[in-house]
Amino acid sequence: MTEVKKNFAVIGNPIHHSLSPEIHGMFAKEAGLLMDYEAVLSPLDEFQLTVETLISQKLSGANITLPFKKEAYHLASQHSQHAKIAEAVNTFEFKDKEIIGHNTDGIGLVRDLEQNLHIDLHGKKILLIGAGGAAEGAIYSLLEKNPLDLTLTNRTIEKSNIIKNKMNDYAKHLNVNLNVVDITKLPQQYFDLIINATSASLHEADLGLDNKVFHDQCLAYDMMYGKETLFIKQAKSQHAKTSDGIGMLVEQAAEAFYIWHHIKPQTKSVIDFFRNK
Ligand code: ATR
Repeated sequence: MTEVKKNFAVIGNPIHHSLSPEIHGMFAKEAGLLMDYEAVLSPLDEFQLTVETLISQKLSGANITLPFKKEAYHLASQHSQHAKIAEAVNTFEFKDKEIIGHNTDGIGLVRDLEQNLHIDLHGKKILLIGAGGAAEGAIYSLLEKNPLDLTLTNRTIEKSNIIKNKMNDYAKHLNVNLNVVDITKLPQQYFDLIINATSASLHEADLGLDNKVFHDQCLAYDMMYGKETLFIKQAKSQHAKTSDGIGMLVEQAAEAFYIWHHIKPQTKSVIDFFRNK
């Protein structure tokens, strides 16, 4: 029987920097799958048309990246639990007439922390900096791992409060204390894990964190990757352990690959490849 080649894409704007085609290509090669995966630049006001065009070209699925994850949520006709709670979608499955929306970002983060960085999140004190889509997409996956508490902070603290109100029932149900702390009050607290989910690193902006937030027993994790951010530099100067977000990127891709092909790809060699590139 001849294998039918399936087609996939990642849609974003900009998109030329995306590592997703290379990551999925590596997964497919290892699995011996025939697959095409292309990067598609969608005009900012034509996301829906871009998706419809790809569906008419018989694509089986797509990843969605910035700035379309919210719009993708609204376009999907069905949602996974993680997508529903985050109200954001990074993976589409196109099935018959349905567009099924998933969100694998939080799953990717938690898998990187637990499986690659060997952090048991259960009972830990976690600080999540940021209140945009990247932070929001991570919260439910972090809560599911039953940390002792999850503290949210952000330059604009009102946004953290809005997220807290939205997520509080899930946190209570999972017995996790969900807090909001002003960024200036952070040195009075202890954290095992500090996650930077802001886009400050993109503009090489300083988050204004007090050095005392970091210590040699904590892990400072930046969702950004590619080059050492100011956040990571500051954490290192205080002898904290550090990690960039390349593992999260590869793990969220691995979960999308699993959704589409029902095959769990090996991620370690792929993470090592991009980290050493
Ligand atoms: P994303 O979808 O990548 O999360 P976003 O929704 O624009 O992008 O959110 C960006 C996040 O980075 C926000 O938490 C933002 O803080 P504000 O809510 O106060 O805008 C944060 N951020 C961006 N630049 C920042 C900077 N220079 N200092 C501190 N926080 C910054």
